[in-house]
Amino acid sequence: MREITVHLGLGSNQGDRQTILRGALERLGAVPGVRVVRVSTLRESELVGQGPPQGAFLNGVAELCTSLSAAALLDVCKALEVAAGRRVPAPRNHPRPLDLDILTYGTQRIDSRQLVVPHPRWRERAFVTEPLQELGVDLDLLATLTAPVVIDDPAALAARTAAWLEGGCVIGLVPTMGALHAGHQSLVQRARQECDRVLLTVFVNPLQFGPNEDFAAYPRDLARDVELAQQAGADAVFAPSVGQMYDASFASHVGVGAEAEGMEGAVRPGHFGGVATVVARLLAMSRPHVAYFGEKDAQQLAVIRRMVRDLGFPLRLVGCPIVREADGLAMSSRNVYLGPEDRVASTVLHRALLSARHAFARGERDRDALLARVRTVLASEPRAAVDYVELRREGDLALLPAGEVAGGRVLVAARFTAGARPVRLIDNMSLLPGPEEL
Ligand code: PAJ
Repeated sequence: MREITVHLGLGSNQGDRQTILRGALERLGAVPGVRVVRVSTLRESELVGQGPPQGAFLNGVAELCTSLSAAALLDVCKALEVAAGRRVPAPRNHPRPLDLDILTYGTQRIDSRQLVVPHPRWRERAFVTEPLQELGVDLDLLATLTAPVVIDDPAALAARTAAWLEGGCVIGLVPTMGALHAGHQSLVQRARQECDRVLLTVFVNPLQFGPNEDFAAYPRDLARDVELAQQAGADAVFAPSVGQMYDASFASHVGVGAEAEGMEGAVRPGHFGGVATVVARLLAMSRPHVAYFGEKDAQQLAVIRRMVRDLGFPLRLVGCPIVREADGLAMSSRNVYLGPEDRVASTVLHRALLSARHAFARGERDRDALLARVRTVLASEPRAAVDYVELRREGDLALLPAGEVAGGRVLVAARFTAGARPVRLIDNMSLLPGPEEL
C-alpha cells in the first residue's frame, strides 16, 4: 500500500516529559504500517491560550511514513495519549503527559468529524513552525493547504455547517463587513481558542447603511481579508453577494428596542434594525455555538444581546475587548478614510476616555464632573466635532440611576470633517479597567 509522509506534533508538560515523548515514539514505530523517519530537536514552550497554572511544554515534530489512513493513525495517537496517562475527554488547555497532533498528512486536506489536517493552529506556534522547518517542510505550501475555504452560496454554507454539526464540532462565528484589521483578527483568534471550527463572514450589509452613508465606498478587498482570516486561524470565510444574502422578495426585518435608542441609534436611524436583521440571518444560516463581537461597537453588542435573548437563539455571545493602534486609536475599517492631520487628531477620543477613567480611579464619583472632563479633552481638539458623550450602565447600556457612576461605561462619537470625506469615529471605555487592560 502507498505510504504517506506525515508530520506529527509532539508535546508533553506533565511527568518525565523527555521519557514520555521518547517512549511514545518507540511505541509508534512499533505499530505495523508506521515508520518514524526523523524527529526534530525538542524545545521548551509555554502554554498558548488560557488554562490553569502549569509547567512548560517539551515540544517537537516527528516525520513518519505510514500506510495507515489518517483516521487509523489518529486512533493510534489517541491510544498512545491514553496509555501515557492522559485524561479522556481531555479538558482544553489542561496539563497533559502526552499530546500527539497530526499536523500534515501528505498534501491532503482533511475536515472530518475528529480531524482537521493540516492542523488549523500550526501557523501561530513557533514550537510547530520551527521544527517543521528543521525537517525541511515547505511552509508556504502548507499555508496554501490551510487557506480558509471561501463560500459565497448560502446553501453551500448551510451544508458545510451541517457537516460540522453532525461531526459534533463546536462552531464559532465572527461576523464582519471585511476590510479586516487586528481588531477583527482578535475575534477570530479568540474563537480559534474556544471552538473546533471558526467561520468568519464578510458582508457589507446594505440594510444597516443610511442613504447618505458610505455603503458604496466601504473598503472591499476579499483576497486580503481571506489572507488575514487565514493568519488568525479561520476555517471558512462566507462572503455572499447582496443578491445571495437577500433575494428579491426578502421582506422580514428584525425590530429592535430600547438598546437601539440614543447614541448611534439617534444619529443613524434604522442602522440597528439592519444590523439585527443581518446578524439574525447569519446566525440562522451558520448555527454557531458561540458568536464573537467587539466591544468597540458596544451599542451594537447590547442590541444583539437583546435580540439573541428575545428570539431565543441557542448560543453564547462573547464580547471581546477593543484592539487599539499603538497611539490609542481604536482600530476600525473606517480609519483609512482619515487624512494625516485627522489621523493625529483622532487620538483625542482615547485620551478623553482615559481622562474619565483616571478621574474615577482618583475617586471622582460625580457623573457630570466625569462627563465634563471627557468633553474638555475632546474640545481641546478643534478638528473633532463631538456627536455625543454618554455614561451608561455596563452591558445593556441603559441609563444609570441618578447619582450612580460605578459599573459605568463612557461612550463617545466625533466627526472629523476637514478631509475629503467626513469621518465619524466611535469609541468607549469602562470606568474600571478590565482584567486584560490592567
Ligand atoms: P465590522 O465593523 O466589520 O465589525 C465586525 C466585528 O469586529 C464587530 O463585532 C466589531 O465590534 C468588531 N471590531 C471592530 N473593530 C474592533 C476593534 N478595534 N477591536 C475589537 N473588535 C473590533 O460590526 C460590524 O462589522 C457589522 O455591524 C456586523 C456585526 C458584521 C453586521 O453587519
